[in-house]
Parts: sequence; structure tokens; C-alpha cells
Amino acid sequence: MAMIEINNLTKIYKLSKKQMQAAKTKKNMKTAVDNVSLSAENGEIFGLLGPNGAGKTTTLRCISTLLTPTSGDISVAGYDTVKNAEMVRSKIGFLTNEIKLDPHFSPKYLFNFFGRLHGVDDDVIDSRRQELFDYFGIREFEDKKIEELSTGMKQKAAIAVSLVHDPQIVIFDEPTSGLDIITARSVTDYLKKLKEQGKLVIISTHIMSEAEKLCDRIAVIIGGQKVCEGTLKEILQSTDTKDLEDAFFELYKNNSKEDM
Ligand SMILES: Nc1ncnc2c1ncn2[C@@H]1O[C@H](COP(=O)(O)OP(=O)(O)OP(=O)(O)O)[C@@H](O)[C@H]1O
Ligand SMILES: [Mg+2]
Repeated sequence: MAMIEINNLTKIYKLSKKQMQAAKTKKNMKTAVDNVSLSAENGEIFGLLGPNGAGKTTTLRCISTLLTPTSGDISVAGYDTVKNAEMVRSKIGFLTNEIKLDPHFSPKYLFNFFGRLHGVDDDVIDSRRQELFDYFGIREFEDKKIEELSTGMKQKAAIAVSLVHDPQIVIFDEPTSGLDIITARSVTDYLKKLKEQGKLVIISTHIMSEAEKLCDRIAVIIGGQKVCEGTLKEILQSTDTKDLEDAFFELYKNNSKEDM
């Protein structure tokens, strides 16, 4: 069994009146993820690539046990995300734009706090903090409040904290969003390092060059559906294109619907 296995995942949101008005729709349901299956293995960086609203975040939240699938199931390291959510959570490091570190605490305090929450020994927490804070250049800011840090430093602190328990599986929703190219590179280099350690990294992105350079395999998601999956080479072959951007537009042309 693969480390992450998604079988026919569908997630339908029920919309409030306000959401229906905002989306200019009379339907009170929104299918965010539509019957998606995929699997990912240790030692690879797997990318979910898709435009805004494609269903990337929803998929990653279902894998991370934050959301319950409407139908279908997901196993992570052999554990079902609904029946064994606690076990799944212990195996994953999860990063998403919408969950921020508390602005009133320092990176060091939060790192230690989440380390203890995960049951990591104090001396292990200390050595991991030193390693990660050194790598991401957080050391000299470790006692400042999160609210005093720059956007990039906040993001790097959030990444370090999400890795405190040395998870086998790393699930990062748009990990380089809002970062300059230097900071973004330090993040993608670290993801490669994790992969080389034999971990599974799964990210979402809408940045073609990032998917192209970083991901071993890519699933293209459009309108909640998986429209293509494979290595870059396989995707270019199946779409008869020269680069991922062209491949994406080819897939988009053939798969976008009126009501998206
Ligand atoms: N809590 C929610 N309630 C209702 N609809 C939602 C909710 N969250 C997401 N949606 C809708 O579900 C669809 C998929 O959203 P999702 O956030 O998964 O997309 P995404 O691929 O992550 O997009 P982005 O690139 O903008 O982050 C969108 O149409 C979105 O408006
Ligand atoms: Mg998203």
C-alpha cells in the first residue's frame, strides 16, 4: 500500500446564503473535489497543480484530517484519515496559509510548545530547533513575537514548527506563496532534502516553474477533477507539448466547464 492513497475522494461544501450570493449561484452545494484518486510514495515530491478554486487546499485538508470526505476514503501510512485521525496526525507535518502561528508568541516558544504537544523529548526538541532555525535563518529572531517578523520569516517559522516532530509525510499547501525567490529557494531546497531522507512531500502550487523543477510527479486538478497525472515527461508526452505551461493550457482548454 502506498504511503498516501486517495480513493474516489469527493468533497461537497454546503453553501450558506451569503456564500451563494457571493458565488452568484442558486445551488446550495459546491463540489470542491470530484472523485479524485491518487497515490504517493516515500521518497518523492508530489505536486497538486491547479488554478484558483481547483480544489487543492480542500484535498490537502482532507488528507490532513481537517476535513471529512463527503465520499471516498484516504489512507496515510496505512491509517484511515477518518477512523484513525490521531495516528494520521502523528505521521504528518501540515502547513496551510489559513492556519497562522499565534502572533503573540515567539518562534522558539511555539516550536517548543508544539514539540511537547507531539510528545517529543525536550532535548530532541532543542536539537531540532537549532537545526531548523539555523537552516531557515530564524535563530536571531527566535525570541521576537511572530507579529514583529516579516512575511517570509513568519512563513519560515511556520514551516519549522510544522516539522518539529520529524514527520514522515510533509503536506505543504503553497509553501512558497508570498516569498521572495531567495526565501522560496531555501524552502524548496529543504523539501528536496526531506525527499532525499526518504520522506514523502506533497505540495500544492499554481506556479508552473515550481512544479516543473521540484516535483517528481504532478497531478493537474481543474474544477475539482484530476485531469492528468504523471512525471513532467509523461504529462508533456500525453499533451504533446513542450513545457508545463503549454500542457496546462491544453488540459484547461479541454477540461474547463461553464460553471467553474
Ligand atoms: N468552506 C468552504 N465553503 C464553501 N465553499 C468552499 C469552502 N472552501 C472552499 N470552497 C470552494 O471550493 C472550491 C475549491 O476550493 P479550494 O480552496 O480547495 O481551491 P484551491 O485549489 O486551493 O484554490 P486556491 O489556488 O485559490 O488556493 C472553490 O470553488 C472554493 O470557493
Ligand atoms: Mg488553496
